[in-house]
Formats: sequence, structure tokens, C-alpha cells
Amino acid sequence: MLKAEIHCHIEGAAQPRLVQRLARKYAVDLNDIIRDGRYIWSDFTTFLSCYDRASSVFREPEDYRLLTYDVFSRMADDGVIYGEVFSSPDHAAQMGISYTDLVEAMAAGIEDARQETGIEGRNIVTCVRHLGPEAAEGVADLVVSNPHPSVTGFGMGGDERAFDVEDFGSAFAIASDAGLGLTAHAGEFAGPDSVRNALDHLGISRVGHGVRAAEDPLLVERIVEEGIVLETCAGSNIALGVYPDFARHPLRNLYDAGVVVTLNSDDPPFFNTSIAREYEIAAKHFAFDDAALLQATQAAVEAAFVDEKTRTRLLKRLEKAEG
Ligand code: ADE
Ligand code: ZN
Repeated sequence: MLKAEIHCHIEGAAQPRLVQRLARKYAVDLNDIIRDGRYIWSDFTTFLSCYDRASSVFREPEDYRLLTYDVFSRMADDGVIYGEVFSSPDHAAQMGISYTDLVEAMAAGIEDARQETGIEGRNIVTCVRHLGPEAAEGVADLVVSNPHPSVTGFGMGGDERAFDVEDFGSAFAIASDAGLGLTAHAGEFAGPDSVRNALDHLGISRVGHGVRAAEDPLLVERIVEEGIVLETCAGSNIALGVYPDFARHPLRNLYDAGVVVTLNSDDPPFFNTSIAREYEIAAKHFAFDDAALLQATQAAVEAAFVDEKTRTRLLKRLEKAEG
């Protein structure tokens, strides 16, 4: 089964083994957040701080190249033909890595994986919502004033309960004016209003998660009518306790209502998942047959922030595999 993945955070995809290796290199003690080869956290707040601590071992551009190469190689092993990863200049800057160094290092990692496996990849630069609108505008300015062919989108992660979403409108407008694709996390830890407000104020074509839109049938109708694409990450939602179990997760209801859904791994080693496992989850817990799984892959390629020539080539690859 060929796959595509459009919601995966680069630092969130760092295997504990790689993080520990770099921690040794920089003499950082991470025993409080990695035990027995696993990340330790207990809720969204401690997850975010565990994530920040793990990110703190990526201190040189080469660390990001290696991380990006590792992430895309793993995706390719799982059958992914196209991947987008979220990068966070705020995390890199904290460790003294400039925006241009980050982007170039990640592009080199993607290119190394592409040469070996054929996987195609792009970088979606994100701001962090809980750092506020000014920091978000700063990230958007950086992206727009340092264009790079591997950077094709702008997004927002972090705690969606922080600040009013309309205050991020100007950051998204800067990115939109430069022709970047737009996505934002919403409808993960906050309900349908959060998704509706993000759609009203950010001009996004995709929503990160967005699954809590299912609590409002009118919003679901709007999402269908406007062709908004949901980047669903069911394994992440269960790990973080957004829903108590897969039986209570609305992925199938959204799909049946006609919402365009894609399947994604979010922060795979933090949630004991991978893109392969997300496709297995969709099959096992949400009764996605092979046609539905292929549809999710096609949806991801159609919603990808990629040039039309590449999109056409990827869609042809899927068609060929199907036939
Ligand atoms: N950053 C990394 N993973 C995230 C998630 N699941 N929600 C919001 N921000 C994130
Ligand atoms: Zn995410």
C-alpha cells in the first residue's frame, strides 16, 4: 500500500535512540524524559515540554540533516511516496540554529533520502501558537524573506487554547501573499469553535487534526462544502487522551459524512506509532478497506503543498500501483 503523510513534526519524529546519541555528544542529561528507550510524559502539557527537551539536542545544522534523513528514510520504508514535515524555526533558534541553516539542512536530509528511496518531500514551516502572534509574524517574515524551494507551506502548532486565533491572521496573510500553502492545528484540544475560527481567520485549506469538528454537524457540512482537508492523527489523539479509545474517535463518522481525510503520524515515537501503524489503525479500528486507504493517500497528494508537475507525477504513481 503506497502512502503519503502531510502532518508530521520533525522534532516529534526523532527516535529516542537518535536523541540520546546527540545528548551524549553534547553532554546533556535526558534521563528524566527518556527511559528504557521511550519518551516519558503524561498529558499534553508534559508532552510539549518533553518535546522541547528532546528538541534541545539538535544544535548544529548537521543534526537536523541527519534527523530529516532518518525521518524520510523511515517514511519511505513504510511505503510513503510523498511526505511533508513541519519545522519550527523557534525551536531551532533556541539552539542557535538560524532559519536559513535549518532550511538548508532539512532540504539536504530530504534530498539524501530521495536519492536513496525516491521519496519526495517538502518542509512546512510552523509557528508555535503559545508563543503568541508576534513570534508567529516573525516566523512568517523569515519564511517570506528567505524563499527556498523545499519550503512550500506555513502552519501553526502548539497549544490551540492559547491566544485568540484572529490575532494570528496577519502572520498567515504574510505567508499567503507569498503563495505558501496554509494549515493550522485546531480541533484537537479545543472543540468545533476552534476549527470554525481558524477557518474564518487564517485562510487555511487544511486543518491539523480538526477531528473535534465532528461535534458540530453544521461545521462538518461546511468542511465538506468548502473541501477543507483534515490531517487526522488517530494514534496521537488516543495517546494524548483526546478520546478514550478508537471506538469513540470520529474518524469514520467524518469520512462517512464526506469529509476529505488524510492519515498521519504527528509525533510518531512519542505516541508509539508510525505512518504504517496509522494505516493499520484505519483498517482495523475504522473499517477502512484498501480503496478507502488509497483514497486517503490520494487525498494527501491532492492536498499537498507541492507544484502541479510533482503532484501529477505522484498521482500517476498511485494510479499505476492501483492498476
Ligand atoms: N506539536 C507537536 N505535536 C503537537 C500536537 N499534537 N498538537 C499541537 N502541537 C504539537
Ligand atoms: Zn501535530
